[in-house]
Amino acid sequence: MGRGRNFCNQFVSTQEIAAEILTEVDVGEELISVKEATKKVINSLYKDLPMLKDVKVRGSIHAYVIESLKRRNTIDFVIELCLKGKSIDELNPFLRNVLRIGVYEMLYHNVHPALATDSTVRIAKKLGYGAASLVNAVMRKAESVDIQKELKKLNPIKKMAIELHHPEWYVKMALRLVGKDAVELMQSNLKDVTYVRVNEIKASVESVRRYLEKHCELSETILPYVFKVEEWDKHPSILEWHEEGKYVVQDLASAIAAHVLSPEPGDFVLDLAAAPGIKTSQLAMLMENRGRIVAVDNSRSRLERMIAKMRQLGVEVVECRLGDGASFKVEEKADKVLLDPPCSTTGAVRKYPCIKWRFNMEKFKSTISLQRKMVENALRAGNSVLYSTCSITFEENEGNMVLFEDCIEKIRCREVNRWRSYGIKKFGRIRFKKWRSVARFWPHIHDCCGFFVALLNSENSKNYDLKNVK
Ligand SMILES: C[S@@+](CC[C@H](N)C(=O)[O-])C[C@H]1O[C@@H](n2cnc3c(N)ncnc32)[C@H](O)[C@@H]1O
Repeated sequence: MGRGRNFCNQFVSTQEIAAEILTEVDVGEELISVKEATKKVINSLYKDLPMLKDVKVRGSIHAYVIESLKRRNTIDFVIELCLKGKSIDELNPFLRNVLRIGVYEMLYHNVHPALATDSTVRIAKKLGYGAASLVNAVMRKAESVDIQKELKKLNPIKKMAIELHHPEWYVKMALRLVGKDAVELMQSNLKDVTYVRVNEIKASVESVRRYLEKHCELSETILPYVFKVEEWDKHPSILEWHEEGKYVVQDLASAIAAHVLSPEPGDFVLDLAAAPGIKTSQLAMLMENRGRIVAVDNSRSRLERMIAKMRQLGVEVVECRLGDGASFKVEEKADKVLLDPPCSTTGAVRKYPCIKWRFNMEKFKSTISLQRKMVENALRAGNSVLYSTCSITFEENEGNMVLFEDCIEKIRCREVNRWRSYGIKKFGRIRFKKWRSVARFWPHIHDCCGFFVALLNSENSKNYDLKNVK
């Protein structure tokens, strides 16, 4: 970690570990995920801490990290009001994350202000007297901040951003996409929703339902093999059958994407951005583990994890290949191609709240350019292509599909069509004629991640003009 602290022999609280993880997310390797940061912090600082063997303790640390990250801008807003003109970025990174956890506890976790102050001051003391007294002063001031009064001083976009815990660029984008429903969309981004998809390679839908119902309250979804987990005393991800690969935790929207492609037993399927393989394993399940799937990804480490996952799920028809999905070639045309390329992940900020605070326009533009090249390659490699993203932006979805409009086929999936949730017809000056042929899912309407799916067929192509594909 290189931050020069070694508290191994002192008392460690869950709040302190959460603050360490937030610090790693903040200043560690570029774009490290919460999962990776947690692993790194625990392995480097708290490897032998007995309390971390308890899943409830780990769950509580994870909740502190995720829930405070979801509200980061509002928490920072309150802290900065108490810092006498100083920016939170000027503070020592660990100290600012201790404060973030303290303010989160006080404002959103129903912890009495005196207790939240006490626990944060205790952690800060390990950094010295100056740090402890600063934390004490900020926490005491934060307790009396009148947020509603402060919000009135802001312009409407900034006010919405702070009130709904999203960055200003997201507020503007949401307003352009869904108008006044933007409020609902952003509120629903704060929810925590779990879905499980039965892995019928290893267990029947009924047996998984009966097993999960011992620990969880389930409800049905539009897909017969996907359940929504309404309540639980043990989260599905820590149960034995999960370890045995009888089901996976997978968002409903993600499951719909593979379902729409609907491969058949014996098909040859190409997956051009496959890792960690959640959709690939669903394709194998729909193919009854018969046929062939070539799964490509350009990340060796993700492919390694995918190989282990396929073994755990009993998937036998997948060949994992390290390669570039924009140029990967197959010997014969695939029957079906899944293209679930890297995207801005703006539909999945519920699960990955860091996305909100890391948006980068340059990266966004280069991702769009890669997506277009990958669509082009997918159409060369197979006839029927399913394009999906967990992004809600127009640019990555209809904006890309406009270039391939001739190839777009209407989605004929009964389950999806029941929702009548179409694409966007017009955005700025761009018109998308095939908006009724594609589908969008929204967190505030369908209670799943924001998702886009389009089905393309290369045989429909009238030599589409790819001059604009940069
Ligand atoms: C949205 S994720 C895929 C998720 C996967 N389909 C699933 O359901 O588990 C996008 C993947 O694309 C990979 N990727 C990024 N650039 C790529 C490229 N040029 N070629 C192939 N894969 C790429 C990333 O490593 C990442 O694993």
